[in-house]
Amino acid sequence: MTEAKVREQYDQVASQYDWRWRSYTAQTLDFLQACAKISSSANVLDVGCGTGEFEQRLVKEHPDQHVVGVDLSENMLEIAQKKFSSHSNVQFQHASVLALPFPKQTFDVVVSANAFHYFDQPLAALAEVKRVLKPQGQLIILDWCRDFLLCKVCDAVLKIFDSAHQQCYTQAEFHQLLASAQFEISQTTKDRFGLIWGLMAAVATPKQL
Ligand SMILES: C[S@@+](CC[C@H](N)C(=O)[O-])C[C@H]1O[C@@H](n2cnc3c(N)ncnc32)[C@H](O)[C@@H]1O
Repeated sequence: MTEAKVREQYDQVASQYDWRWRSYTAQTLDFLQACAKISSSANVLDVGCGTGEFEQRLVKEHPDQHVVGVDLSENMLEIAQKKFSSHSNVQFQHASVLALPFPKQTFDVVVSANAFHYFDQPLAALAEVKRVLKPQGQLIILDWCRDFLLCKVCDAVLKIFDSAHQQCYTQAEFHQLLASAQFEISQTTKDRFGLIWGLMAAVATPKQL
């Protein structure tokens, strides 16, 4: 049900997304790229890739980077695909985080930016991401942080008025989810964006059991 709503919402906004969110996307994805430090040889999966803006940053830094972006919205993916028509190393696929169409241990790095609050089964999403990550691979998630007042208010309002929105987490809740999904956090940060908005990011690796 939530996934259908997310798809519908992003299919509708896709054509204006880059223009409307240009400043927010630039700030957040530049921040993510700085946290992530992805090596040029890494095989990267971007979950909830949207219009491929993070892929643009990766390929600008490393033109031969192998990246796959997945998203629920075909219209967002269509825009992403157009940006990379001449790059065979960057691909996009229509898929949910809950059913990634890849064999286990495929990727060195999985990133997800500004999408975790849409996942209606966060533990199942993390388990699926863990399945496709190599044992020494890195998961890098950036999302809104409910420790900040405006995010808290937005989360409450969106839960009432936006059926696509699922849940915005505090940093402690987010870390608890990662631990429950058997990830070990190696780097974590939370920061104010602009005057009032707040984001958090974590870099985590699968726990070696
Ligand atoms: C706010 S946009 C962020 C796009 C991009 N990561 C960025 O930061 O510019 C959230 C994206 O996550 C996608 N999404 C939400 N839930 C998803 C799910 N369960 N599986 C895959 N993609 C999902 C949406 O379709 C949307 O394109």
